[in-house]
Amino acid sequence: MRVGVLTGGGDCPGLNAVIRGIVRRGVTEYDYEFVGFRDGWKGPLDALTMPLDISAVRGILPRGGTILGSSRTNPVKIEGGIERIEANLNELGIDALIAIGGEDTLGVATVLTEHGFHVVGVPKTIDNDLSATDFTFGFDTAVTVATEAIDRLHTTAESHHRILICEVMGRHAGWIALHSGMAGGANGILIPEVPFDLDEVIGWVNSRFAASYAPILCVAEGALPKDGDLITKDASLDAFGHVKLSGIGEWLAQQIEARTGHEARTTVLGHIQRGGSPTAFDRVLATRFGLNAITAVKDQAWGTMVALQGTDIVRVPLSAATNTLKTVPLQRYEEARSFFG
Ligand code: F6P
Repeated sequence: MRVGVLTGGGDCPGLNAVIRGIVRRGVTEYDYEFVGFRDGWKGPLDALTMPLDISAVRGILPRGGTILGSSRTNPVKIEGGIERIEANLNELGIDALIAIGGEDTLGVATVLTEHGFHVVGVPKTIDNDLSATDFTFGFDTAVTVATEAIDRLHTTAESHHRILICEVMGRHAGWIALHSGMAGGANGILIPEVPFDLDEVIGWVNSRFAASYAPILCVAEGALPKDGDLITKDASLDAFGHVKLSGIGEWLAQQIEARTGHEARTTVLGHIQRGGSPTAFDRVLATRFGLNAITAVKDQAWGTMVALQGTDIVRVPLSAATNTLKTVPLQRYEEARSFFG
């Protein structure tokens, strides 16, 4: 069998571990051939390929990013896009595709499955916002990076008696902020799922200063004030209709400084959360996803995605993972609230 592999959407540490797991088992246990498609769905759309064999995946386990490249190309929105992919797969003799990606990439995989394509999905995103899987790889590494940053912000905030705000990624889910805020001992965590009351945040800040400590706030890029709007970098949308979130941290720093008279500074972690080597947890999870994804291909489980449930890797319908975003339940936020202020 000849299998195509692609990585789409925002990159994250662990992608290469998935690719390595797929190719190692596929070649050594199933005697499959592989074709690497470059830059997400752009690869199948424009027949952009690279060799993908045992030698191509040697040494990539600890490397961040993706050797295949990625993009936010959406073939479903391109006139004749699906037909172009079908023609290229036939031309290249591809029997099946493994799509590694988040809600957007796997949403395309779902549509192709509905058109009769043989596709298996692997869930990927630092946001951890895919339903049907307890965790996605990339998330643990992003939380580790953000936690280390928050640890560092504590010492400079104490030295200058300042409020330090750490803005983290996560798009419209607050998982990275929730976990890194708790792990880093933030005195306030703001997430998209719970629009915040600025007066309440000011109260947390003042109570920390009253206790002779410096407040640290962990803010998800998609957080927004009650009766307020998302803060975006500009009005542009990507091929899947997403805005570019950024700026809530700086807005909050200005509001707090004006209302409390204390100095406030903001650190926006941005793509540092998406770069570098994956944590051990992400390497193992990604490797297990890769091994089980090629077995799903062997079993011709088209239209499914591998997923982590407890400690088991299971198969779920692709549509289950992409129908609704997995957002932070209020009960989880209430747990964290015990440490606010
Ligand atoms: O979905 C992953 C993610 O990192 C989000 O957390 C973030 O909002 C977005 O991608 C950034 O997209 P880009 O890398 O295209 O700017």
